[in-house]
Amino acid sequence: MATAPMIDARRKMLVTSALPYANGPIHLGHLVEYVQTDIWVRFQKMRGHECYYVCADDTHGTPVMLRAEQEGIAPEALIARMQREHLRDFTAFGIGFDHYHSTNSEESRSLSQDIYRRLKARGLIEIRPIEQLYDPVREMFLPDRYIKGECPRCHARDQYGDSCEQCGATYDPTELIDPVSAISGAKPVRRQSEHHFFRLGACREFLEDWLRSGRERRGGKAGAPLQAEAANKIEEWFKSGLRDWDISRDAPYFGFEIPDAPGKYLYVWLDAPIGYMASFKALCAQRGIDFNAFWEAGSDAELYHFIGKDILYFHALFWPATLHFSGYRTPDRINVHGFLTVNGQKMSKSRGTFITAESFVKHIEPEYLRYYLAAKLNDRIEDIDLNFDDFLARVNSDLVGKFINIASRTAGFITTRFAGRLTADLTERDRALLKTVQDAAPGLTRCYEERRYGEALRQIMELADLTNAYVNDEQPWARIKEAGAEQRVQQACSTALNAFRLLTLYLKPVIPRIAAAVEEFLGIAPLRWADAGELLGAHLVRPYAHLAQRVEKQQIAALLVAQGQGTVAQVSAPAPAVADAKNGKTPKKGSEQTAASTVAITAEEFARIDLRVALIVDAKAVEGADKLLELTLDLGEGGRRTVFAGIKSKYAPQDIIGRHTVMVANLTPRKMRFGVSEGMVLAAGAGDGDLWLIEPETGARAGMKVK
Ligand code: MSP
Ligand code: ZN
Repeated sequence: MATAPMIDARRKMLVTSALPYANGPIHLGHLVEYVQTDIWVRFQKMRGHECYYVCADDTHGTPVMLRAEQEGIAPEALIARMQREHLRDFTAFGIGFDHYHSTNSEESRSLSQDIYRRLKARGLIEIRPIEQLYDPVREMFLPDRYIKGECPRCHARDQYGDSCEQCGATYDPTELIDPVSAISGAKPVRRQSEHHFFRLGACREFLEDWLRSGRERRGGKAGAPLQAEAANKIEEWFKSGLRDWDISRDAPYFGFEIPDAPGKYLYVWLDAPIGYMASFKALCAQRGIDFNAFWEAGSDAELYHFIGKDILYFHALFWPATLHFSGYRTPDRINVHGFLTVNGQKMSKSRGTFITAESFVKHIEPEYLRYYLAAKLNDRIEDIDLNFDDFLARVNSDLVGKFINIASRTAGFITTRFAGRLTADLTERDRALLKTVQDAAPGLTRCYEERRYGEALRQIMELADLTNAYVNDEQPWARIKEAGAEQRVQQACSTALNAFRLLTLYLKPVIPRIAAAVEEFLGIAPLRWADAGELLGAHLVRPYAHLAQRVEKQQIAALLVAQGQGTVAQVSAPAPAVADAKNGKTPKKGSEQTAASTVAITAEEFARIDLRVALIVDAKAVEGADKLLELTLDLGEGGRRTVFAGIKSKYAPQDIIGRHTVMVANLTPRKMRFGVSEGMVLAAGAGDGDLWLIEPETGARAGMKVK
């Protein structure tokens, strides 16, 4: 194991996160990356290193151009607005960029065009004509995702230009049968145009060397540029052959023009990573930092990129090759993370698991997400799941219940009984506890340095447990009433608050705002990593004010409601017939047949059933009925309905308030023991616990007819 000294030489480091696209909002998936990077950077800065963290909006490309057009504004106006929103969200989550730039900037233009020229001078750009689909109405070449047509393999209709969602085939858009332009609806024509290619194949030897590189760092660790899993992926790509990379696009395109090639633009993925340099260049101008010292070939500054697994190809092949052959240094390390799933599902708008940063902040303290993500993060590429039950438990039991608890149960005595003064006169038992907490520092240093945050938090919470056990034992609340025990209470509370200070220091990269509030309460300067070596003596602390609150279930429910989470399921009795009939008049083969085959209704009968999307605006238990929930359903223009549904064995009211479901809206109201039920909701399953409310895709609005 590397033996990184506690105080090593001051390192020069430049750290980046991938540049978010300017055509959409920041969501919780993005935050995995920005939180992961920000924790690492905060840790490095606490260690005293010269570390800069830069990022920018990734502004170029066809989607931004088309979206601006749709909104009737200039792309510049769209990207300016997106940048403000992105920065607002990042700030809310405590992401502490040293600079946040735009790829549509002067630094970016000059660096990109210059790098293109250098690559060309090295003979690495080849120009040759290719044939593509062209929209004769919109007068533009169509990117793959703007072409739809029939899959050449399985003949599924309405498939994208590059791959089929039905059979998984990948193909060239020119192979699509009956293609149409998704922009104008016109039938595309084939057309030739000259494209500029970066000869990636010619870079193979260099890339193989780079992959095997890894210099001795001043911190003492030898580092490979990629995690093992990522390196394996690259080896696979080597084996299947490195194809030349098409780096040009024809006008109209929102991007930078290619030098000496009128009407040709640099493909967004060429200038995107150059945005890292551009952002840093802007920072250098602001702060008088030497740009070249970080970017020239042979630079001894360290360069780190944090990215998601989906953009590995760009960062581990194109980017080092681009840098090397245009005369710049290459990255020391690319840290790859996996994807975020929400309650076990891929984040998706249609499943209602797409949660924006903006929405999260409105309902839940952002530092709690930082804490939760950190608890789940490690140095591997595996996906991580945000499970809201688990989120609630971890935040409430660990962060609030263990960590904050230490201060909230001891600080009051220091304020009220000892005029805010800690004592330096500690017993051996007190010192032993504090030594244990201090001795954790080197191990935690390694955890943070190696991005094993989950392990770091586990160790920190163990120390919090030890401290709480110590307080339980000392019982200041009982002893304070005993004659002559005053001194012991002051010692115990001083020890607990000293431990609390150390734990705050260890947690500071993860929860910087809470840590700042603790620093204020303790009346101390911003904690740095080396401060773990010291303790507070006869120090004066401020009166304790509440530092953090538990998360409540309702906050999570409110977040999911606001984000339009939807679900469909059945409530009361004999709806399976209806649910199955929905699939079509003739029962299909396989599992669908089971229930459907028991029913025989005609299409006409089925057509008389009025199925509507309903929003569950309220749900409550019904006194005296152990299976029923009383639901208030909103049908939009159709008003509100009360429905008694037998779903209590599966769902608690707070689980379903705010969800969308589907109801039978034209049943005659039925008088039940508890009131009148004005319809039925649909669920799959046999009933009781085996029950899944049916939910329409997000976007469906209350009152919509279900056909
Ligand atoms: N613009 C490119 C990156 C250019 S870098 C020179 C891009 N943008 S993105 O907005 O789609 O993604 C930004 C980062 O967020 C990427 O690293 C991506 O992997 C990450 N994530 C986007 N969705 C994610 C999840 N659901 N989960 C985890 N990370 C995700 O790619
Ligand atoms: Zn297909």
